[in-house]
Amino acid sequence: MDRNPFTPGFGLTPPVLAMQGTPVEDFTEALEGTRPAGHRSVLISGARGVGKTVLLSQFHDVAEEVGWEVIVLHTSSDSLAEELRGRAVHVLRDLDPQASSSRLTSASITAMGAGASVGREVSSRYDEEEVPLAVLLDRLASLASLRGGGLLVLLDEVQSADPEQVHVITQHMQDLGQRGHAAGFVAAGVRAGVDELLANPKTTFLRRAHQVEIGSVDVGTAAQVIMTTVADTDKHITPEAAVRAGDISQGYPYLIQVVGAEAWQRSGTEETIEVEDVEGAREYAIDAMVHNVHGPALRDITGRKNDYLMAMLEDDGPSAVADIARRMGIDLNNQNVYRARLIADEMIRPAGRGLVELAMPYLRDALLRRQEGGRSALAHGPARVARPVRRRPPRGSGGRTG
Ligand SMILES: Nc1ncnc2c1ncn2[C@@H]1O[C@H](COP(=O)(O)OP(=O)(O)OP(=O)(O)O)[C@@H](O)[C@H]1O
Ligand SMILES: [Mg+2]
Repeated sequence: MDRNPFTPGFGLTPPVLAMQGTPVEDFTEALEGTRPAGHRSVLISGARGVGKTVLLSQFHDVAEEVGWEVIVLHTSSDSLAEELRGRAVHVLRDLDPQASSSRLTSASITAMGAGASVGREVSSRYDEEEVPLAVLLDRLASLASLRGGGLLVLLDEVQSADPEQVHVITQHMQDLGQRGHAAGFVAAGVRAGVDELLANPKTTFLRRAHQVEIGSVDVGTAAQVIMTTVADTDKHITPEAAVRAGDISQGYPYLIQVVGAEAWQRSGTEETIEVEDVEGAREYAIDAMVHNVHGPALRDITGRKNDYLMAMLEDDGPSAVADIARRMGIDLNNQNVYRARLIADEMIRPAGRGLVELAMPYLRDALLRRQEGGRSALAHGPARVARPVRRRPPRGSGGRTG
């Protein structure tokens, strides 16, 4: 029996992708120069668990495939610029034919001419601290272009980065571009945090970057992703079960993987995943969503924002803002303040005139549990099923698929 093919973990690239539009293909064209170079700078945003990190690693993979050098920065580092320098030096040591210069320090010829020993001091030209970062990047980008590529810098979780530091990095990337180098910068982050970051005057570069917003897909696409994922293994899934799984996932990428994985698990040694297996996975999927997505996000929702969400629980569907205001004992204008903040937090979304609704799958369940004891996330639209650009070869095979 094949291994469970679903990837219900953050940052894990699934074997089949639900994709809105063609962001990976567009980015590849930008790198290859058949699309304006401006598209080499991208800001990926979306709610938690919609696949930002996965898309970023798709960008990473295609860039390497078209011969670009890729540097990944981490917002957890003390200084992004220092990290960039370190990574740049590391790449240059491999790439630069003149990375090390050697100097003859001593030579001695043994008696009888039996042999000669030569002392050499190998010093890396990049070991000196003084080389300015701009010079390092310039050299790196030049060498990368000689090989037909360019320099791409990636930064995930950008909402947690210090705007000042993001500014330093993007300034360098912009300078590279202006000096005629092939350079790109891609950042990814949670919508709400990214909006805040973009409000900072230091982040003009990101504001001008090509914006890729990701969200949920329609449930039909979700069902198709699940069906295709299973079809590549020695198990089957009934169309009915796939459709039900799509429904339960609500098209939310993380849930597609959780429902798929759990239904697979529940089918045990049976060859076919039945609708009962999917039905049985529902509670598990809700738990996973509440714990791994809503729990962390709701930690930041306190005070009146929390009251607002709790006031919405009285309605089964969308809530009238007038009712919410009345339940909270505040006037409509005041209500509007919290409404706007919760929309920015991607917790709620407008649902027609004077109405709002909860914006994330199973947020109601999370709120109900909270009562007892994280932007328009769900952009529905035409979506398609795609293969990741490059799948990690199965252990031991060394080959490439996809
Ligand atoms: N395009 C996709 N189609 C189907 N499943 C996906 C897709 N992208 C990501 N996933 C799945 O969704 C889950 C979350 O993916 P990922 O970690 O990339 O999300 P994220 O947006 O970076 O989340 P966070 O905001 O927490 O960083 C993972 O289980 C992953 O396998
Ligand atoms: Mg992520």
